[in-house]
Order: sequence, then C-alpha cells, then structure tokens
Amino acid sequence: MLKNFLGWIDERFPATETWEKHISKYYAPKNFNFLYFFGFIATLVLVNQILTGVWLAMNYKPDADLAFASVEYIMRDVDMGWLLRYMHSTGASFFFIVIYLHMFRGLLYGSYQRPRELLWIIGVVIYLAMMATAFFGYLLPWGQMSFWGAQVIVNLFGAVPFVGDDLSVWVRGDFVISDVTLNRFFAFHFLLPFVLAALVFVHLVALHFVGSNNPEGIEIKKNKDENGIPKDGIAFFPYIVVKDLVAFIGFAFVFAAVLFFAPEMGGYFIEAPNFVPANPMVTPAHIAPVWYFTPFYAILRAIPPMFGSQFPGVLAMFGAIAVFFVLPWLDRSPVKSIRYKGPLFKIAIFIFAISFIVLGWLGMQPVSPGKTLAAQIFTALYFAFFILMPWYSKIDKTKSVPERITK
Ligand code: HEM
Repeated sequence: MLKNFLGWIDERFPATETWEKHISKYYAPKNFNFLYFFGFIATLVLVNQILTGVWLAMNYKPDADLAFASVEYIMRDVDMGWLLRYMHSTGASFFFIVIYLHMFRGLLYGSYQRPRELLWIIGVVIYLAMMATAFFGYLLPWGQMSFWGAQVIVNLFGAVPFVGDDLSVWVRGDFVISDVTLNRFFAFHFLLPFVLAALVFVHLVALHFVGSNNPEGIEIKKNKDENGIPKDGIAFFPYIVVKDLVAFIGFAFVFAAVLFFAPEMGGYFIEAPNFVPANPMVTPAHIAPVWYFTPFYAILRAIPPMFGSQFPGVLAMFGAIAVFFVLPWLDRSPVKSIRYKGPLFKIAIFIFAISFIVLGWLGMQPVSPGKTLAAQIFTALYFAFFILMPWYSKIDKTKSVPERITK
C-alpha cells in the first residue's frame, strides 16, 4: 500500500527522486571532522529560534508602554515562558558561536575557494541577515540596553554624508527611538528569520551543486567509480546524518547546561541594564552591544572621527564584514586546506583569529587611551589578513595535495 501511495506521489511530485538526489544518494567526503558538524547544528538552532520566537510572540506586546512588562509576564506567569524566553535569548548567542565556528572552518579549509565562491557569498548574506535579526530582536524587551544600544547604532546612520540625518529619522520613524521604532523592529524581527530560512535553502542548493569540501581540500568528484559514485564519498543518509545527530546531542548537553545554570552567562548573553525598563532620560554609564557584535564595535571606536564625522569608523565597521564577500578572490593559493598551506598563511590566520577575539574583548570595555590604541593595532591586523592575502598566499610555500583522501 505504501509503495502504491509513494508511486502515486512520485508520478505527481519528485519525492523519491529528491530524497535520493539530496539525501540517500548524496555523497559527502568520508573525512569530515567535528568542524563539519556546525552547518547541521546551525540549521537546528535556526529552527529553535523560529519555534520559540513564534511562541514568545503569542504573549509579547510590541508597545513601548507594555513591552517590558509583557516580557516579565512571559518570565513569571506564562507556563514554561521562562524556558521559551531563555531558549530564544541563549539560543541567539549559541547561534553566533556556531556560525563563527562554521565560518572559521571555511577559512581553515579554503571552503570559499573555487568552485564554492557563491556558496560562501550566500553564507555572508546569511551572516548579515543574522546580525540584522539579532539587532532588531534586542530592542524588543525594551530594557535600558535595548533602548540605548539601538540609539547608538541608529545614530551611526547620521554619520553618512549629506543624507545621514534624514536616513536615521527614516530608520527610526521618529527623532528618537520610540514606540514607532519598536513596532517596526518587531515586524522586521518576525520577518527576517523566514528570509534566513529561505537563504539557508539556497545555501544548501549551492552546496549540493558543487559538493562539500573537506579538511584535506581534495575534490572527491574528481575520483569516481564505474557507477559515478565518488570513491572517497559516503552517503549522507544514513552515515553522515547519524554522525551529525550524535554531535547534536553533544551540543544539546552544552546548550542545556548554559540554559539551566547560566542563561544570561553573567551578563554576556543578556546584559544587566536590560533588566531595567528603557528610560530615555537616563543614559547607562556604559553602553556596549552583545558579545557577537563587539569586534565590529571595537573597530568602529578605533577609527577617529574626521572633520567631526564618525563616517570613517562606520565605513571601517561595515568594511570589516563586507571584506568577506571578496575573500574568494583574495586568496591566490593553489591549495585549499591549511594542512597543505605554508607557514605564512598559518601565521596570518593565527593573528587574524587572535585579533578578532581581542577586538571582541575591547568592544566590551569602556574607552581609555590605551585600549583605543590597542583597538587600532588589532583593527590594522584584522584588515591586514585580507589586504595582504593576495601577496602572502601567492609566495607561500605550499605542500602538494594527494589525489585521494587517506586521512
Ligand atoms: C543560518 C546559518 C547557516 C546555516 C544553517 C548553514 C548551513 C550549512 C550546512 C548544513 C552546510 C553543510 C554542512 C557543513 O559543512 O557544516 C554548510 C556548508 C557551508 N557553509 Fe553554511 N550555513 C549557515 C551560514 C553560513 C555562513 C555565515 C557562511 C560563510 C560566511 C557559510 C559558509 C558555508 C560554506 C563555505 C560551506 C561549505 C563548507 C565545506 O564544504 O567545506 N555558511 N552550511
């Protein structure tokens, strides 16, 4: 009966064909390591964000007079409301941890290189959409940090020459962050995760078209058997799925540990001033974004104003993200994986990773002359990784890549 039913479907919709092409007969390299788990985990975290977000929206009120209280109501009175809220807020931070590891894997193994340039670019668009979603979402609890964080960031639009002031009024819908702003941020925060889901679909279509890279940087499609199956590939279902599920269980343990024992992570995931209702008359002593934005915030503060305008800093901040779009064309190395790249690349990526972490820390600190100087040095090192790449990736001593995957 099941066969007949499936046959009926298959005559009208390519169900079996799609399952085989993308799941049971999709071959991925056999040497994936733990860094390859994070795409799968990111997909599940996105599902978590959408599900908990929709349920939160059932009790949340996007109104400047009611928003803060409605979040407290969710935390105290709604059945399991505290769990939904913490799954969503802790989930947001975990989403960025997972994505930073996912992107770093791409840097390590040259997954942005030919033929995966477009797959990488779609990834960068996803990253931008994630940042926008998180930014809009942070205003919703209408706490002090929600209000003043949004105030600082939207004011940056004011630094754009000529149209700046009009632009920031246009974004806020008012002269200050207000009820109007809260309403539109809620609308965008609800919409964007579905755009993200669509982008992830496109990301996966691109991935399945070009095939996965792997820690060796060897193209498995170059070595196929007589049936056209890559010799170094294994079927996605059940083999890779089973491994991914084990990884997800490990991830779920870590997530649960933080969720139940330190959901605010000592102020890193939800900052203390955000438990105080937004007050336009009182500026918090120290305004800092959530940790996943702080490297870029440090870059913004590192660049001194020019002719009284913060525009150079704003450009540097957006440039630090936009530079990922051109990364595939900056790397001129003949090999993909760090395992076969030379010492110059290894030193460069090490300095880059350290710079990103130090900038992240600096972005959380109050400004001081010493810290501003440090931020300037690490901003220079951050950009040097990209700007000097065409040079050092060309002259670096690479090792020859084997034909087949042996490790
Ligand atoms: C919602 C966010 C994202 C989801 C759900 C997602 C999902 C996935 C999945 C399931 C895979 C295959 C499994 C794996 O290789 O881990 C993958 C691969 C990949 N992703 Fe993402 N991704 C996301 C964001 C990003 C971002 C921000 C970038 C880069 C800027 C990116 C770049 C890549 C690349 C280059 C690959 C191929 C890696 C390789 O084969 O070595 N992705 N992604």
